[in-house]
Amino acid sequence: MNFTPLLAIAAFALSGAALADEMEYMPPVTHAATQEECSACHMAYPAGFLPPQSWAVMMTTLEDHFGENATLDEATRADIEAYLVANAGRDRSKAGAAPLRISELPWFRKEHEEEVSKRQFEEAKSWANCNACHKQAERGIFEDD
Ligand code: HEC
Ligand code: HEC
Repeated sequence: MNFTPLLAIAAFALSGAALADEMEYMPPVTHAATQEECSACHMAYPAGFLPPQSWAVMMTTLEDHFGENATLDEATRADIEAYLVANAGRDRSKAGAAPLRISELPWFRKEHEEEVSKRQFEEAKSWANCNACHKQAERGIFEDD
């Protein structure tokens, strides 16, 4: 079966773009506590953008959340963690890795480095401001507007 490696290489090369297309629509947060507590400083990111272990790590390190203190009472914290983990995306990271930024995932970097102008980025100020560029992000729509 010596064509197998070639197929594997082709699939790898396509995966960035194909993955981004898969995420044109990402179901928005439907859980009231997550929507309320996780949208104070940025939009409430859809759970499907990170794998389950990422949400588990993030929700147990809220005292240092990207330099901010985002701690919650234990009942709310556990409730939000359960929602995010249950609705998480597929694990595409290296074994054991728990990436905390959507904006540093390989598909994200590739898609955005190719498509975003310098001016558009300067206006958004941070990759974390999805909704500065994706005007329908709150509805789960990330395709070209
Ligand atoms: C007190 C403010 C604050 C609250 C509340 C908060 N965050 Fe954040 N969050 C931040 C900051 C600041 C960043 C980094 C933003 C940047 O890089 O521009 C961030 C970044 C993130 C990122 C990474 C974004 C990226 O770059 O891909 C995720 C995911 C995230 N937060 C999830 C959550 C979740 C889940 C909650 C609710 C439990 C939450 N945040 C509540 C301040 C907050
Ligand atoms: C500075 C502007 C900007 C920011 C900030 C930004 N994006 Fe994008 N994003 C774009 C552009 C431009 C494209 C390529 C055109 C398109 O398909 O919308 C894109 C593409 C995408 C795609 C692929 C859509 C497709 O049709 O294949 C996804 C998914 C996505 N972004 C999610 C996000 C998420 C999640 C965040 C925040 C963590 C974010 N983006 C932040 C501008 C931005």
